[in-house]
Amino acid sequence: MRRMAVFCFPALAGILAVPIAVANHDIDQRPGPPPHSCRMGMDMQQGEHRMSGMQMGGMRMAGMPILGEFRALPAEIDSESNPITPAKVELGRLLYFERRLSASGQLSCNSCHDLASYGVDHQPTSLGHKNQRGTRNSPTVYNAAGHFAQFWDGRAATIEDQAKGPILNPVEMAMPSEKAAVAAIRAVPEYVARFEAAFPGETDPVTFDNIANAIGAFERKLVTPSRWDRFLEGDGNALTAEERAGFQWFMHSGCASCHSGTFVGGNSYQRLGEAVPYPERSDLGRFQVTRQASDRMVFKVPSLRNVEMTAPYFHNGKVATLEEAVTRMARYQLGVELLPDEKRVIVAWLKTLTGELPAEYISEPKALPGD
Ligand code: HEC
Ligand code: HEC
Repeated sequence: MRRMAVFCFPALAGILAVPIAVANHDIDQRPGPPPHSCRMGMDMQQGEHRMSGMQMGGMRMAGMPILGEFRALPAEIDSESNPITPAKVELGRLLYFERRLSASGQLSCNSCHDLASYGVDHQPTSLGHKNQRGTRNSPTVYNAAGHFAQFWDGRAATIEDQAKGPILNPVEMAMPSEKAAVAAIRAVPEYVARFEAAFPGETDPVTFDNIANAIGAFERKLVTPSRWDRFLEGDGNALTAEERAGFQWFMHSGCASCHSGTFVGGNSYQRLGEAVPYPERSDLGRFQVTRQASDRMVFKVPSLRNVEMTAPYFHNGKVATLEEAVTRMARYQLGVELLPDEKRVIVAWLKTLTGELPAEYISEPKALPGD
């Protein structure tokens, strides 16, 4: 059994050769996961240390969409419909911190997605308008622009669509209407000039759509490359032996059937409780959007980038630690109880997804227009 992981990942041997020995020594104290997870094909060229065309057919998730590849983060997340320009980004940064976009004048996007704290507020559920709490945990805004849909239930398609939600949400920023939000911004002459610069050629650029476009353009550059990206780009030493073993165990356990791709998630909907029914069922997730019985307890698979820094976890914020999140994932998604050493190496690998925050890019403006 000890060597099973090696046989499961022959193509990984080049890059993981030494670590595998360490890993197996550390983690293989019981029969490995069932052989189906060995059917993953992995095409990693030795020396180049780059994975491509990872095939995960034949895994336990047979019949479910099987997802892409692990890839390094791009420098920014482009959009054809909302191209990133410096003027838009500057404006978007101001609006991100703008409390005028809330009914109380006290909340901005940054209140719940603190850019200096990895884009979260560390609350199980956030404090919004008049100290009301919603029912869901606020996910990070870092790298979110690259997800295939926004929100835990995917109810907004793009980061731009998403930005309109919280401004009008009665338990978040609680503006009474789009018109009211636009009026609050239009009242400040510097904003009008900045909208004209950011959206040249438009006769009336101060619109609710353009507020969202500017914030979206700003968010499209909130990317956080980490040691994992350096590893994917060919620096085999960017990860320690333990961390590489952790990735191997992550693959071996079947986590990557849902958490894969550039964002290690953020690219599919999956049922919470896929293997064993999840005990908390008050939030039915995507069912609330589609009303399809098959969408009960289905959520967007969250990205695991920066997951070390974004506790608490899960859609309802009820899971306090990363270790507990991994335990529950193995139990409810895969029907497996992880041993302490297996959990330890998986968590060690997850921490390699912690990127550097772009300090200058995210620094809070000293003054906002009109202040
Ligand atoms: C009162 C707290 C609060 C405020 C203010 C707030 N958000 Fe959120 N945000 C949340 C919560 C909670 C969710 C998850 C809601 C859900 O999934 O139903 C969320 C979800 C998101 C997401 C989706 C990320 C993902 O992984 O799906 C993005 C992006 C985002 N918010 C950006 C913003 C922007 C931009 C603003 C300002 C216009 C903003 N938020 C204001 C609490 C807040
Ligand atoms: C069948 C799909 C599936 C599998 C397999 C799976 N996950 Fe998840 N994962 C999800 C979903 C869906 C969520 C969101 C849960 C929620 O919203 O409450 C999630 C959430 C998480 C979170 C919490 C992220 C956050 O920001 O709250 C972590 C950490 C995580 N998974 C790690 C893992 C690990 C490690 C494994 C393998 C042991 C794994 N997952 C296997 C679908 C999956």
